[in-house]
Amino acid sequence: MTQHGLTPGEVVSDVTISDVRFEHHRDAFGIGETRPRLSWIIATTARGWRQAGYEVEAYRSDGQLCDRTGRVESDQSVLVSWPFAPLSSREHLTVRVRVWGLDEQPSEWSDFSPVEAGLLHADDWAAQFITPDWVEDTTRPQPCPLLRREFDVRAGVTKARLYVTALGVYEAQLNGTTVCDHVLDPGWTSYNHRLRYQTFDVTSQLGEGRNAIGAILGDGWYRGRLGFGGGRRNIYGDRLALLAQLEIDYLDGTTERIVTDETWHAARGPILASDIYDGETYDARLELPGWSAPGYDDHEWVGVRRFDRNLAILVAPTGPPVRRTELVAPVAITTSASGHTIVDFGQNLVGRLRLTMYGEAGQTITLRHAEVLENGELCTRPLRTAQATDRYTLRGDGVETWEPRFTFHGFRYAEVEGWPGELQAHDIYAVVCHSDMERTGWFECSDPLLNRLHENVVWSMRGNFLDVPTDCPQRDERLGWTGDIQVFAPAACFLYDSAGFLTSWLADLAAEQDIAGVVPFVVPNVIPMPSIPAAAWGDAAVIVPWVLYQRFSDMGVLATQFDSMCAWVDHIATLTGEGRLWDKGFQFGDWLDPSAPPDKPGAARTDPHVVATAYFAHSAELLGQVADILGRADDQAHYLQLAAQVRDAFEAEYVTPAGRVLSDSETAYALVLQFGLLRDAEQRRHTGKRLAALVRESGYRISTGFVGTPLVCDALCSVGEFDAAFHLLTQRECPSWLYPVTMGATTIWERWDSLLPDGSVNPGQMTSFNHYAFGAVADWLHRTMGGLAPAAPGYRHLDVRPCPGGGLTRARARHITPYGAAECAWAIEAGQIEVVVVVPPNATASVTLPGGNATSIEVGSGTHRWSYPYSIKRNLHPRSLDSTINEFIDDPEAWTTVLTTMRQHLPSLARHMDVGTMMQWNDNMTLGQMLSLLPHADELPTALRAALAALER
Ligand code: BGC
Repeated sequence: MTQHGLTPGEVVSDVTISDVRFEHHRDAFGIGETRPRLSWIIATTARGWRQAGYEVEAYRSDGQLCDRTGRVESDQSVLVSWPFAPLSSREHLTVRVRVWGLDEQPSEWSDFSPVEAGLLHADDWAAQFITPDWVEDTTRPQPCPLLRREFDVRAGVTKARLYVTALGVYEAQLNGTTVCDHVLDPGWTSYNHRLRYQTFDVTSQLGEGRNAIGAILGDGWYRGRLGFGGGRRNIYGDRLALLAQLEIDYLDGTTERIVTDETWHAARGPILASDIYDGETYDARLELPGWSAPGYDDHEWVGVRRFDRNLAILVAPTGPPVRRTELVAPVAITTSASGHTIVDFGQNLVGRLRLTMYGEAGQTITLRHAEVLENGELCTRPLRTAQATDRYTLRGDGVETWEPRFTFHGFRYAEVEGWPGELQAHDIYAVVCHSDMERTGWFECSDPLLNRLHENVVWSMRGNFLDVPTDCPQRDERLGWTGDIQVFAPAACFLYDSAGFLTSWLADLAAEQDIAGVVPFVVPNVIPMPSIPAAAWGDAAVIVPWVLYQRFSDMGVLATQFDSMCAWVDHIATLTGEGRLWDKGFQFGDWLDPSAPPDKPGAARTDPHVVATAYFAHSAELLGQVADILGRADDQAHYLQLAAQVRDAFEAEYVTPAGRVLSDSETAYALVLQFGLLRDAEQRRHTGKRLAALVRESGYRISTGFVGTPLVCDALCSVGEFDAAFHLLTQRECPSWLYPVTMGATTIWERWDSLLPDGSVNPGQMTSFNHYAFGAVADWLHRTMGGLAPAAPGYRHLDVRPCPGGGLTRARARHITPYGAAECAWAIEAGQIEVVVVVPPNATASVTLPGGNATSIEVGSGTHRWSYPYSIKRNLHPRSLDSTINEFIDDPEAWTTVLTTMRQHLPSLARHMDVGTMMQWNDNMTLGQMLSLLPHADELPTALRAALAALER
């Protein structure tokens, strides 16, 4: 055998295996799965490559072969069952894989990928939680405690691991330096049910002789303020505590453990107060230099006491930690009219500031953060009660660098007060923080505004994937609102590998369901009232695992979440009884429909019970499919029958035989089309027409809220109304996806008009500038405009159906699927279209070319190109006062011209039209006829004629 494991004479193909992964870990270190499923990515120049078999070998740390599978006849390369004995606590293996194609040629072996288990059982922990032995007033933020102890290390260390977590947030240090680059460990989970611990390889941080270990604790989500309306402190407990177990292995086969116990000491450090919402206060004069290094004199420190806590709730992470992922430099530093120094980072982001300064001891710098300015001053009203203020008091002994540790803010602007001397751009950076997921999705097209929209979605995802999928990252909220991630999950799973992150959150969701199966509004649940079921929000229990299955081919998450999904659907079934209509009780409904007044975000035009029963039918149907996939025939029959009953009840109550649906709104039609709630094709056709008519009637401005907006473009396309979908997408007037972009948005806003057209901030109580929910449309950009959709779980089979429209001349979507990179790009030039499709090895695609006869071409892996004559359909009829309003509405350029001209000559009417509440017109009314009905419009027709004529030149 050669080093490749080949017998002499065996031919090696150009097939290579990379990225051997365990479960969804980027770094399979300290994992909690005993049988981690394996995935690998295959690269080859061969076209149509399919895997015929694979072989996996596992080696121990000493290089000895531990186990091998031999060749397994299988085409599976994603989440393949663990083929060896289950991992035990601390077990470390390296694994390599090779594969055979249908041509029976073996690949070379992959590189070795390491995997190491964490502490899998409560009794692996010799450590106990410890808390400083002092009395605190925890009704308000307290100084962050430091904990430490020293210990001796002998010669001959082979490896050292630190297993650590906290009640609170922590930063662990060894011999004067932090042990990792994580931020806000252990993250936020439903602490009463699941508390994460982290595992670090600290071998290189130990030295022979005296060593020291230390940790700083902060309030974080554990006992800091959480929740709107003032929130509450101490939700999970009022004592911060540390659990740490340092295990040192020696050459002689012995192991020593340094654990948290009564031998540790505690002191108050320089962080005087720290809070997620309110910020951090740090007095550098109170630093204790060398406190986590050996030789520090801690005889004045206080003792610690044990803090009893059930260690069975400890879990290893399934997703990546939060890290600092980017440094952003200021684009401008200005002085406001009131004399404040304001730093603009040019991008609304989430993280905190890093300062480098030089000044006198005792001088305090105050940093306030905000997403927007109003009248040139920091606008903090949208933050509600969150103070978002950091304070640093200088040591005064030279150059000082500081970044807060246990807080984060959502901001584009910072107001800096008390800076010693003149603030320079290189003195201050914004440090972007979020869960460090792998970026896997990209999109771009010929419209710079759409590209910025997409970029804004990415930034809003980054800002709101900080350990928990949150609604917003800045105000006194930042909670895991279930409805928001329910609609955003598909876009999220394309843009970043969110599988491990969302798997953890779903475990919390299941843990937080009450005994009746009700899913709380937010997960982790910090709402101090019994949970109430709400459609589209609670349905996250079913839909988010379904999305993970579709996008990552993860059947495991369906199996793990199955009971949680059933509990939710069963609860709604009980609630609705034999009638099957969910028509009572509280609902958020089509939240933030633009017609709802700023202070009544739930007052949508769609009846909330239409939304509720539609979602009930959808979740029951998906659950039936999940049961089928899991081989649970009885459950499958039960839930599919339930879904049919709900659809019948829905139809009887809300749908006319011809296909009108209560409340005759875009959201209602989008729901019935997307959730398959109509009985026959004729109804569907009629409904599709009605939806398109409504979309046009609203002047191609958004008329949908959280529920309808993610569905409306797909619904239009499903009935062949592609132009209407593009028209809606490319609208720039408010409300629309692009209106915020024209107003300079760099993230997705909570409201279509978070910033009003006159530049003022929306007066509503809820006005965030960083909410991903309306960014769910990115998934449509990827799948429809870009043409890259999964046709089988994990994109094993791709549905490539690029859809040019809206006058765009090119688009490109690229995604690292579980099988490798897939891409679809199209470009129209000089009467030709070129379509390029990349399919990863071991996957296939059905390609439907634009403008063709709708039959699909089946292709295997490789790069495929098509080029053929194609012209962009353009409506170039000249528009005049004799054109109908409908013709104008369908011609964005001409309609914008009409509106702009009206704004100049008849602002009152233009305003009326601006907010999407246009007067009704009949289909054949011309612009001229409409004008003849208006008072004081004498000079308007002339101005309009001139403006429209100018368009034709
Ligand atoms: C949040 C939302 C959430 C909603 C509930 C808001 O305060 O920011 O995004 O889904 O409440 O409807």
